[in-house]
Amino acid sequence: MKSTHFICLGIETSCDETAVSVVENGWKILSNIVLSQEELHKVYGGIVPEIACRAHIESITPILEQALKKAEVKLSNLKAIAVTHRPGLVGALLVGVSAAKSLSLVLNRPLIAIDHLEAHLYAYRLGHAPSRLAHLKYPQVGLVASGGHTSLYLIKSPITYKKIGATIDDAAGEAFDKVSAILGLGYPGGPAIERMAREGNPDSIKFSPAYADTDSLNFSFSGLKTAVLYYSKGQNASRRSPLKRGLNIPDIAASFQETVVDSLVGKMFQAVEKFSPHALVLGGGVASNQMLRSRVQKRAKKERIKVFIPDRILCTDNAAMVAGLAYFKWQNKKVSHLYLDAMPS
Ligand code: KG4
Ligand code: ZN
Repeated sequence: MKSTHFICLGIETSCDETAVSVVENGWKILSNIVLSQEELHKVYGGIVPEIACRAHIESITPILEQALKKAEVKLSNLKAIAVTHRPGLVGALLVGVSAAKSLSLVLNRPLIAIDHLEAHLYAYRLGHAPSRLAHLKYPQVGLVASGGHTSLYLIKSPITYKKIGATIDDAAGEAFDKVSAILGLGYPGGPAIERMAREGNPDSIKFSPAYADTDSLNFSFSGLKTAVLYYSKGQNASRRSPLKRGLNIPDIAASFQETVVDSLVGKMFQAVEKFSPHALVLGGGVASNQMLRSRVQKRAKKERIKVFIPDRILCTDNAAMVAGLAYFKWQNKKVSHLYLDAMPS
């Protein structure tokens, strides 16, 4: 089933980005168009599902046209259509899934269903010719930290994963978003907190660690979020603005970020100790956090383990990771059918 030119179209609409990409042979990005709905949701302080769905419906066709134009390929050049079908906002997923099914039917090309989290774990391979990744060995330990999920996986191949830990409440990105709202820094919270934290002292406030317990590989971010809320607004969160209370916002942001990064890195390396993997992999929006990236790299160097992190732009939601992973699915005959469902979880 091998081909030297597997040109795949990827579609991603699981949350608040309408994204379409064309990728050749699982790694070469011919185009990667991402339309963020950030501006639409900003005023509400978070994602409004109904608004997200409507925006996907309006944007999917123009974004598809842009992606094909940028890649300089025609619909007839495509060998397969890949789409994120889980997890995510069901109405949002449906827009991408319906578009992908229509294209697959009309063009008579295979439809390949992609799990969004597996795609995040695949993203580091994009842009690297297979010869440059020839030394890659499995198993690997992977962390996906995004707005909706924070999970650790044991990766046995690009298409074989086992979950070994997860958050028991909020996701790491969700904690960034909520703490950002508490501090009045706006949405999305991750980049806003990261910027503010650069001006602050990460050791100024000692928040308790963001993991469920010391033995398991699970995380818990909800207690940390509440601790920041009480610290910022007083007990019972009754007082309104941490700024008006004369608190140092950069110090709170830096200390919060420090606690999250420390917990994520701690659990990753706990998994390394347990499973002795050949490499570590990161993915998801939170993996674009510079402090997390450098902390993982530093510790990996010390512990002599390879670490792979996608370019920052490929950490947040995109469709290149969808079209890329589809190559391996196709090679392994994991092709879907036109009854494919959008699945929220
Ligand atoms: O993967 P992603 O784009 O969408 C989901 O699948 O959820 O992740 C979005 C999440 C948001 O919660 C956002 O605040 C967080 O990733 N994020 C960051 C950074 N950039 C985005 N968190 C920390 N630091 C960042 N630089
Ligand atoms: Zn994501």
